[in-house]
Amino acid sequence: MLTKETVTELKYRGDGAIATLIKNYNEVSSVKFILDNLGRLPSNFNPDIFYKLLAHAHSAIRLSAVKNIGKLNDRFDANILYSLYKNENDTNVKREIVSSIGRQRKITNKSLLFEFLKDNDPKIVCQAIRALLVFENDSDAIERLKSLINHPNEIVSSIICKEFFVKENSADTRISHAATYQFLKNVVVHADVLEALSYVPSESVHLTFTSPPYYNARDYSIYPSYQAYLDFLEKVFIATHRITKEGRFLIVNTSPIIIPRISRSHSSKRYPIPFDLHPYLVKNGWEFIDDIIWLKPEASVKNRIGGFMQHRKPLGYKPNSVTEYLMVYRKSTAKLLDWNIKSYDQKTVIESKVPDGYETTNVWKIDPCFDKVHSAIFPVELCKRVISYYSYKGDLVFDPFGGSGTVGRAAKALDRLFFITEQDKDYYEYMKSKARQLSMNDERVTQFLTLEEFIKRSKNDANRSDC
Ligand SMILES: C[S@@+](CC[C@H](N)C(=O)[O-])C[C@H]1O[C@@H](n2cnc3c(N)ncnc32)[C@H](O)[C@@H]1O
Repeated sequence: MLTKETVTELKYRGDGAIATLIKNYNEVSSVKFILDNLGRLPSNFNPDIFYKLLAHAHSAIRLSAVKNIGKLNDRFDANILYSLYKNENDTNVKREIVSSIGRQRKITNKSLLFEFLKDNDPKIVCQAIRALLVFENDSDAIERLKSLINHPNEIVSSIICKEFFVKENSADTRISHAATYQFLKNVVVHADVLEALSYVPSESVHLTFTSPPYYNARDYSIYPSYQAYLDFLEKVFIATHRITKEGRFLIVNTSPIIIPRISRSHSSKRYPIPFDLHPYLVKNGWEFIDDIIWLKPEASVKNRIGGFMQHRKPLGYKPNSVTEYLMVYRKSTAKLLDWNIKSYDQKTVIESKVPDGYETTNVWKIDPCFDKVHSAIFPVELCKRVISYYSYKGDLVFDPFGGSGTVGRAAKALDRLFFITEQDKDYYEYMKSKARQLSMNDERVTQFLTLEEFIKRSKNDANRSDC
């Protein structure tokens, strides 16, 4: 029987032993098994068999042969691989050819690598970029790479941007990544979010979690048109982007809404808010990361299926909507998440670790919450999950549409700071009354401020020199 041990033993025997083995076990799975289990090759290994297998009819064998050729030093022949590349149809084999040539790290292969930059497959281009980045002192290679900044593929252009065009320390460095401004800590402002944000410095918030007003579905959310509503949200998320620290998250809770028909002779209209909002977010520098589904029990949602249950006529199907979205975005940056995490001290990293029992899927089953004063409040559990998965202790969590202040209370319970805006007087007062009840013995008192008081505080903050 063919085993890994046999392959290892024969490869050290030198001349021809592996070639004979391949000849004896000539069906695809066995040949592939032999090729994939060769590991490091001894210096006396005869690689002729690999070059012979480049003509094999099965692409998986050609791929494994190319991989082994990539391990060679003296007997490596880039030109043979390049000839195969020119005639090869399988894109995985082509990628492996580029990878093998790149692995040689030889400046003499530069012109071949330049050829690969012209490939239609962006993954091949990326592989060639990776290989060329090794020649960091070669002005020819650098110029060729820089010229890819306008490459039509977004991943290619973003790699080039990160490597050659991103200014280091572009962020406001007046305050460190883990810190924020004193005047924003545990503050609720009674104001229109856009007005309040014009007094907030850039790069001051670590996480935003919010549920925007639903387009004309509640009395606090009346807009002249759907486009006016989307334009308003665009402005809010542009401003939120400015005040968000580099690489940090925005999580928006939305769902499609329905505006009921005006009479039986008209139709109701459904607005796909999450899908219409998404392009505005991406266009303004928010990188899409995840879609999390908030799943509610069917008994807790409005019954839409009643009519269909009786008539069962196709086209009249109206399922009960038991889901909402949590749309997860990150402020676009060339920096990896590791850079963000390294901004915290070891103690904070350890203390912020997410405890056992965290959700492992993107479907979060959570009961909705009903409130006698506010008609659309977050369940505390939803806020706690978002805050603990997407922020560190001591971070500033922002909710532009505060409502009853659930985000603030959850943030406080998890040792985070919060900053909230809410324009409705009644909801603002409601938040205040809730805070009074909850913080009898709490030293971290929440500041409830009018816009004027907030502006004054912002001007008095010693760290601010820009307002
Ligand atoms: C869906 S509710 C948020 C409820 C909140 N998540 C909670 O748990 O209580 C949206 C809130 O946004 C507020 N709002 C609407 N437009 C606003 C604006 N321009 N500035 C600040 N708040 C606004 C509304 O008054 C409403 O309370």
